Amino acid sequence: MLEVRDLSVCINSAGREVRAIKSVSFNVAEGETLAIVGESGCGKSMTALSLLRLLPPGGRIDRGSITLDGVELTTLSETEMRRIRGSRISMIFQEPMTSLNPVLTIGAQVSEGLRLHRGLSKQEAFRESVSLLHQVGIPSPEARCGDYPHQLSGGMRQRVMIAMALSCKPLILIADEPTTALDVTIQAQILDLLNQVKRESGMGMILISHDLGIVAENAARTAIMYAGTIVESASTKELFDNPLHPYTKGLLDSLPQKAAPGIRLPTIPGQVPGLDNEVRGCGFCDRCRDPEKECRIEPPPVRETANGHMVRCWKKT
Ligand SMILES: Nc1ncnc2c1ncn2[C@@H]1O[C@H](COP(=O)(O)OP(=O)(O)OP(=O)(O)O)[C@@H](O)[C@H]1O
Ligand SMILES: [Mg+2]
Repeated sequence: MLEVRDLSVCINSAGREVRAIKSVSFNVAEGETLAIVGESGCGKSMTALSLLRLLPPGGRIDRGSITLDGVELTTLSETEMRRIRGSRISMIFQEPMTSLNPVLTIGAQVSEGLRLHRGLSKQEAFRESVSLLHQVGIPSPEARCGDYPHQLSGGMRQRVMIAMALSCKPLILIADEPTTALDVTIQAQILDLLNQVKRESGMGMILISHDLGIVAENAARTAIMYAGTIVESASTKELFDNPLHPYTKGLLDSLPQKAAPGIRLPTIPGQVPGLDNEVRGCGFCDRCRDPEKECRIEPPPVRETANGHMVRCWKKT
């Protein structure tokens, strides 16, 4: 349903154009969840925003193709893109507080999309908003419609964002760290809710998370991102059972579940390279346990096995 091919995004950082996303490719099928995982700053949100063509000022898609249900998004006009956003592809943003309008009531904000994209009248939109807020588990939704965002708790604001994202029955929902700010019980409820909608409507989902536990339970396939590129992708089970990239292995080794009691958890030393550091070879080689000679000189080749397991690494094992 969604096909992203060789997507590259440039961004103007301190007067210099740097490439934030490099040759990213993935697919999302109907009713499927793809997880995108990686450390802070690796380009997960930037990838998501480029699908909606909502890059920050100075950012632009400089190569590649994004097709949604057969329609190429990279070349659409801004007016056409506005019609797609929120109706065919929607996003739950990472920060619910800054994504809701503080001076509009909850009811007005949920209704807006319904009136714009589904052409509902004011009364119909209000009724539908109440029903959506009820669906996402907001108590007394009719009364809450008159509230402003600051009158709601963080978990409730996140639910309102979800109601808005689902209101136009999108083909693809991008959930950028949808539960990071929430406590564990609400986290589970929100993910159950998203999975239920997905099952009922066949919506595809991109779940961005750094929590491998959430990914293992909710995504059929997983892409591991590092320094603006996908370094490994496979079915989630295959990726957890048989990780090939040293970065993925490092992430899995640092999971608390794997450690013996009393033993300090292994970590991956070093940091994600900043955008300003020009990387010639592999972006991960400074942190790799056992780099090869080529790793510093040339970008690693992509290898793909028959069962759709892709890895971008010089090492053959
Ligand atoms: N508005 C912006 N202007 C310039 N650079 C930006 C901007 N937003 C993000 N970046 C840079 O783009 C890169 C990718 O950032 P992105 O927000 O996509 O990371 P992320 O993987 O979503 O991280 P996190 O897990 O913290 O949300 C980072 O190096 C970041 O510093
Ligand atoms: Mg992010």
